[in-house]
Amino acid sequence: MQNPQDVQLAAAALKAALPPELTENATEAVGIVLGTGLSGVAECIAGSGAKVPFAHLPNFPASGVQSHAGAFIAGRLGGRPVLAQQGRCHLYEGRTPAQVCMGVRVMRAIGIRTLVITNAAGALNPLFSSGEVMLMSDIINHTGASPLTGDNCDEWGERFPDMSRVFDGGLARCAMRAALANAIRLFEGVYIGVAGPQMETPAETRMYRQWGADAVGMSTVLEVIAARHLGMRIIGLSCLTNKNLPDCMAPAPLEEVIRMAGVAAAKLEVLLPAICAELPD
Ligand code: HPA
Repeated sequence: MQNPQDVQLAAAALKAALPPELTENATEAVGIVLGTGLSGVAECIAGSGAKVPFAHLPNFPASGVQSHAGAFIAGRLGGRPVLAQQGRCHLYEGRTPAQVCMGVRVMRAIGIRTLVITNAAGALNPLFSSGEVMLMSDIINHTGASPLTGDNCDEWGERFPDMSRVFDGGLARCAMRAALANAIRLFEGVYIGVAGPQMETPAETRMYRQWGADAVGMSTVLEVIAARHLGMRIIGLSCLTNKNLPDCMAPAPLEEVIRMAGVAAAKLEVLLPAICAELPD
């Protein structure tokens, strides 16, 4: 389902609450979606005077997980205007794909064209380590849902949007340069999005790995599809919080996921400003 009226109303309310520095320069601004355990990254947004709670925006879904604060934060990062969405909602909370993608669509509606989307994910690639960051090279949508189901909103994008290059190659190179310049290890791989909320069985983990996935999580893929539909340029960054190896599966409790997200978040706090500074206009 696509919900252009809801998006328009929420975007108008957000625009009215944001400083003109952001709304007047929205096409140069970078939208950032911050996932589980990564809300702290928003604290590094310089001049983060403008904080607009989701609750102030009509029909905007509340952020579900406790570690998600649920607000838009405007400021500057790496010298660029940025608008961070701190927290998101998920399919496993019973939210619809339209609700899950509302933040991305609202950001586009106020003029933002470049999106950095982050999440916490379990590593499937045995060479990847917890507490590290993975640049997404592609996605597998295994949620069984799409934000494009139903009548197409032609103002947003095409009925059958191309997905042959989901993540922008030029922006990925900026991310790699930023990581190299700051001595941050940046893995690269495919993210598979599942509906959850149950964690994976060993058999599922083995299958996802055989499908070519390097990390698994319960968010991001629908937002990425919605953002591509809208023609946005996207960078995807996964904070690897646990390792999912089918032959030695271990539980990954939420506290541990959040703790390791914090370890990776410290790297994102360096990487995100450096990426913003590297991005072309
Ligand atoms: N599986 C699914 N989602 C996750 C995981 C995981 O192992 N870790 C963090 N989010």
